[in-house]
Amino acid sequence: MIQPSLRMNGIDVFQALLPPREQEALLADLRFVIRQAPLFRPVTARGTPMSVRMTSAGRVGWVSDRTGYRYQTMHPDGMAWPAIPDRVLDLWRALVSETRKPDCCLINFYGEGARMGLHQDRDEADFSWPVLSVSLGDDGLFRVGGTSRGGKTASVWLTSGDVIRMGGDARLAFHGVDRIRFGSSRLLPRGGRINLTLRVVV
Ligand code: SIN
Ligand code: FE2
Repeated sequence: MIQPSLRMNGIDVFQALLPPREQEALLADLRFVIRQAPLFRPVTARGTPMSVRMTSAGRVGWVSDRTGYRYQTMHPDGMAWPAIPDRVLDLWRALVSETRKPDCCLINFYGEGARMGLHQDRDEADFSWPVLSVSLGDDGLFRVGGTSRGGKTASVWLTSGDVIRMGGDARLAFHGVDRIRFGSSRLLPRGGRINLTLRVVV
């Protein structure tokens, strides 16, 4: 079993897990997914556009619009979500489970100035499965707290190739991304940060 290089509020951080070549290969897989299921900018139920653009791969994808947020089997443009790339599934097998596959691979894209407020991942049916999260491209300042809002938080800069596993008591930890260092990585030629979140949903 691969050991995390850091534990923060119960979250396992695997720093520099993916070497540059692996990051490039993963990026090529993601470009293939995004060509079939383009990134879109979700709006909250109140109609506020999110700063992050997103799409998904897998049986279900996460969407948010004026009617609220949920998992659904179709992209907002009507097509089915593409399959989760094998390379992504390999990571899941190595760090989470060899038997159960994730149902969703959410792809978040952070352009200049994008961020994600503190939240819990709790739209899934079974919290006994960890959430696995992969960072690619520009550095992101990741913040994690406890399972109730307003508690103490800790922060770490996630860099390209870092992987996080949120399981056990930390499965429902509040977390978010305060800011990115736009242009800090050369993985994406035009800058930005990609985060993949793998989850068992159903
Ligand atoms: C998320 O919680 O959905 C994204 C986390 C991240 O971008 O690292
Ligand atoms: Fe999240």
